[in-house]
Amino acid sequence: MRVTIQDLHDSKRRGEKFAMVTAYDYTAAQIADRAGLPMLLVGDSLGTVVQGQNTTIPVTLDEVVYHARMVVRGSQRAMVVGDLPFMTYRDPDQGLDSAARLVREGRVQAVKLEGGQKMVEVVAAIVEHGIPVMGHLGYTPQSAHQLGRQIVRGKTSEQAHEILAEAHRLEQAGAFSLVLECVPAPLAAMVTAQLHIPTIGIGSGPDTDGQVQVWHDLLGLYTDFVPRHVKRFLNLAETIEGALADYAEEVRCGSFPTDRHASSMPEETLRALMREVGSSQTA
Ligand code: KIV
Repeated sequence: MRVTIQDLHDSKRRGEKFAMVTAYDYTAAQIADRAGLPMLLVGDSLGTVVQGQNTTIPVTLDEVVYHARMVVRGSQRAMVVGDLPFMTYRDPDQGLDSAARLVREGRVQAVKLEGGQKMVEVVAAIVEHGIPVMGHLGYTPQSAHQLGRQIVRGKTSEQAHEILAEAHRLEQAGAFSLVLECVPAPLAAMVTAQLHIPTIGIGSGPDTDGQVQVWHDLLGLYTDFVPRHVKRFLNLAETIEGALADYAEEVRCGSFPTDRHASSMPEETLRALMREVGSSQTA
C-alpha cells in the first residue's frame, strides 16, 4: 500500500518531518523506495538534470508521463507525484485534462503545479475530480524568464504577505501539500505554522514539514552548478568517473573480462565445432 495524503497529514499533526526526492527512472525509484522515502517527485527538473536544458520550460507532458511510468513501476510504497509542465494548466479545463493524463497514463498518485492566486481555480477543478494537487510557491522555475536572477521570493513585506495569502488560498482550494522553494526561512516557518497541510521546503530553511531535493544534486551527479540550498550527500559523479576509468583501463590491459564473466561450452561441442570450422583460434 502506498503512502496516502492522510499519512502525510498525520505526519504533520505528529510533528514528524519527512523527505521527498525527485526520481526520473525505474532504478532510482527502486533505490529511493528501499531507502524508505515516502514521496517521489517526477519533477520537470528532468529538463535540466536529465535533458541538459537551461530551464524546465521545454519539458512536455509526454515526457513527464514517460518518466512517471518508470518511477511508478520502480516503487511500491512511495506516493509518486508528477509535475505538470509549463503551459499545460493555463485554465481549469486544460489543467484537469493534463492532470488526468498524468494519473491515467503516468500512473501517478498526485500532481504538482506552480503558482498562487491564478492557480486557485485550476487546483479546485483538479481536486474536485479526485486528483490530489501539490502547490508550489516562492521561486517557480517555469517563470524563470520573468523572475530572472531574483531567486529568493518573499524578502519584501509585500512579497511575504502575498506568499502567505496565496498559501492559504491554495489550501482552501484543496491542495494537499505545498512546496516552498527559496522562501526566507522565517516566512517558510510562518506558512508552515499557519497551514493545516504539510509544507515541503527546498532552500527554505529547516522549519517546513518536509524537504525536497533533486536526485542529481543530492547525490552529486549534476556538476554544471551547485545551488546554495543543495547538500551533496555523495559525490557520485566523481565515483562514477573513477569506476569508468578503471573499467576502460582493465579492458585496455586485458584484465577484464576474465573466464568468470563468460559462459563456457561443452568440451565435445567445442571440439566438433573446431573440426567443422577448422579454426585454430577457437582452442
Ligand atoms: O521539478 C522539480 O524537481 C521541483 C522541485 C525542485 C520542487 O519542482
